[in-house]
Amino acid sequence: MNIAEMTPDEAKAELARLAALLNQANQAYYISDAPQMPDADYDSLRRRNAEIETRFPDLKRTDSPSEQVGARVADGIAKVEHRVRMLSLGNAFDRDDVAAFDTSIRKYLGLTVDAPLAYTAEPKIDGLSLALRYENGVLVEAATRGDGAVGENVTANARTIRDIPETVQDAPRTLEVRGEVYMSHPDFASLNERQEQVGGKRFANPRNAAAGSLRQLDASITKSRPLRFFAYSWGELSEPLGETQVEALARLAKMGFSTNPLTRLCAGPDELLAHYAVIEEQRATLGYDIDGVVYKVNDLALQGRLGFRSTTPRWAIAHKFPAELAWTRLEAIDIQVGRTGALSPVARLTPVTVGGVVVSNATLHNEDYIAGRDARGEEIRGGKDIRVGDWVQVYRAGDVIPKVADVDLGKRPSESQAYRFPTSCPQCHSDAIREEGDAVRRCSGGMICPAQAVEKMKHFVSRAAFDIEGLGARQVEQFHGDGWIREPADIFTLRDRFGSGLQQLRNREGWGDKSATNLFTAIDEKRHIPLGRLIFALGLRHVGEAASNLLATHYGSWEAFETAITRAAGKEGPDWDDLMSIDGVGVVMATSLVTAFAQESERASIDRLVAHLTVGEARRPDTEGSPVAGKTVVFTGTLEKMTRAEAKARAEALGAKVSGSVSAKTDLLVAGPGAGSKAKKAADLGIETLDEDGWLALIGAA
Ligand code: IVH
Repeated sequence: MNIAEMTPDEAKAELARLAALLNQANQAYYISDAPQMPDADYDSLRRRNAEIETRFPDLKRTDSPSEQVGARVADGIAKVEHRVRMLSLGNAFDRDDVAAFDTSIRKYLGLTVDAPLAYTAEPKIDGLSLALRYENGVLVEAATRGDGAVGENVTANARTIRDIPETVQDAPRTLEVRGEVYMSHPDFASLNERQEQVGGKRFANPRNAAAGSLRQLDASITKSRPLRFFAYSWGELSEPLGETQVEALARLAKMGFSTNPLTRLCAGPDELLAHYAVIEEQRATLGYDIDGVVYKVNDLALQGRLGFRSTTPRWAIAHKFPAELAWTRLEAIDIQVGRTGALSPVARLTPVTVGGVVVSNATLHNEDYIAGRDARGEEIRGGKDIRVGDWVQVYRAGDVIPKVADVDLGKRPSESQAYRFPTSCPQCHSDAIREEGDAVRRCSGGMICPAQAVEKMKHFVSRAAFDIEGLGARQVEQFHGDGWIREPADIFTLRDRFGSGLQQLRNREGWGDKSATNLFTAIDEKRHIPLGRLIFALGLRHVGEAASNLLATHYGSWEAFETAITRAAGKEGPDWDDLMSIDGVGVVMATSLVTAFAQESERASIDRLVAHLTVGEARRPDTEGSPVAGKTVVFTGTLEKMTRAEAKARAEALGAKVSGSVSAKTDLLVAGPGAGSKAKKAADLGIETLDEDGWLALIGAA
């Protein structure tokens, strides 16, 4: 059946059929070592599954074959580790956000409001990013972004793209060009037409078509799909491409890369916004999809000083076009219980197409949002509440989950009633409590709530956490349902509890001796775990992947981390101050950490888990040879060559800990003019003191 013409019900049935077929095929291949179908058939079933999921993201099954580890296609494409991480961009949605972007850069660099500061503005291409590595002028490797650290090797496929030169003249010895692969509107239309003629699948939009075409095992398929490439950035270089963004782009263009003709140099936010308007006006006639305008600081030396936050550069931002909208009927409100017990209302909608994707679910945030109030109790949507049966406006902005934005009161059924948010957990019936100042109502059941326990363990085994092969969301649900695992520590005693006979597991549908043995081996492999992954895996509120890595590099070892967080319980004292001094850790995250560690049952569960593990020590990245790695530095007085924020970020990038107060633990004081009591205290304690030039000389940046 043609995917483009499927109704949601048909899609649901087809996804179920594909899941059954593919799971059976996986089992035959991995577990029984008796493949049932040719690789090509298997690949095409997987592709069909992925395409249906792309068109109906809400219908994706919890046991979706696209999430299964050990899948042949994913294994078939080799991985590439990016030498320079491929990051994403922060977003701006209106002129205030753009002004704030300019202000924060000026503040960081210590520039006044009227100091000249030029930016480039260029279209944000809606495709997928690609890194091209040239050695001595010859293309040697092409990789997708992947998770930013590790991408997929698509070299053979990239070679089939006409915009990508095989060789380049007058290039740095090592040159990594980055840009966007995309498909033009006419090429997209004729691809879909051809697909239809041969009974193949239609793609939902040009971006999916480009991604599907690039990530092919067979490069001849990629070749038959006309892809294009715009260069806009770079990774590793043996020498700089120029002094400014404009110069570097001109250099890339000279080497033969396509660069976007709508790129402009702008003197400040007003000119950026004016060029945004120009690009927005041309959007419909460009012939390819764009979803916003990217602004970048033009001066590359300033870009270098501004550097990066955990996942985005400080020197660039994406100003997105307004979201796409549609109206539909709200059929029901369901409550989902998350990992931290949060009760999240989900809107079940009559399916509607929003920006090329069929939407049947959307988030309703929390009970205040449904009632027409924000977190401070103030009216939103003019105070209109949302009711089952209402005619509602749905929107999607970028890749985010669809939201319900507005209600048409004129179409409200006369018998409708205000929605009553549950005060007990729909899963375990424990009280659902809303604490003062919290917008979210939470189930108080903790690990006795099956929904919380399962979600917590799904998070625990997820890719950025323990990533245990053979133990995915589906298996966690199954094992929890059978009472085999109730908390993460149980995963590590599975083998012992089963004994060597593996009787129970063997008797389970879908498990043989081989798969059970493989599972236990995979679990054993994760008994040694990096500190950052462990912290992230605990699934504490507000502690995401980037923050977990920051905490890991700051504390270095589990023992140091655990001791410090335990000691910081009173939210004061040196350990609390030290925690709060980490760039990227705020009071909300710090409070969540210390609260979790002070909570008896949560702490006991963590201790039971860690008893089974050897936790790797975290080293600070890129600090080899750094003269200040591991040292505690305090800045005081006025700095003249950089702002405090910049000084702190640079010191931390070199592996130093920056603290706000002088103590016996301080290794170095950097004192500018006007330094007072801290300089005196440092002198009393015999701590080495440098002025700003001395500091810059020490770190090699004078
Ligand atoms: S610059 C350090 N420029 O948007 C990040 N990105 O949302 C450098 N993108 O991952 C990226 N057009 O795939 C840049 N003109 C453009 C872009 C662009 C599209 C993509 C890119 C990036 C994503 C971030």
